[in-house]
Amino acid sequence: MVKVLGIHHIAIAVKNLDEAIKKFSAILGIEPEVEEVPEEKVRIAMFRVGDTFIELLEGTSPDSPISKFIEKRGEGIHHIALRVDNVEEFIKYLKSLNIRVIYEEPRVVSKGKRKITFTHPKDVYGVMLEYVEVLGE
Ligand code: CO
Repeated sequence: MVKVLGIHHIAIAVKNLDEAIKKFSAILGIEPEVEEVPEEKVRIAMFRVGDTFIELLEGTSPDSPISKFIEKRGEGIHHIALRVDNVEEFIKYLKSLNIRVIYEEPRVVSKGKRKITFTHPKDVYGVMLEYVEVLGE
């Protein structure tokens, strides 16, 4: 049986990552880890808050999915990521529920530390969900 272990992160789309980092660093009292993912045209800042992260996302070009999201819906929560025990098993489970999965083969991200997929927001009340299997810290 598949299992949700917790909320891995909450991701927020922002127009200006450097400004958003300043604000969230002030609110949270910590500094993030920042990385750029050119193949996804995104810059990411991750703040560890207990067992959960707050992830800030900035599109690095107008055709980035994050830039398009902001154009359509404005800045704000972009997705919620569930930590799961086995992402492949979870993909099978989601398909059995007729929920559309965005990557049928999970993607390995964060330098091999996580395996992920997403489900279609239209199938889950307008909320994009991510499913994260943690491979390493
Ligand atoms: Co995410």
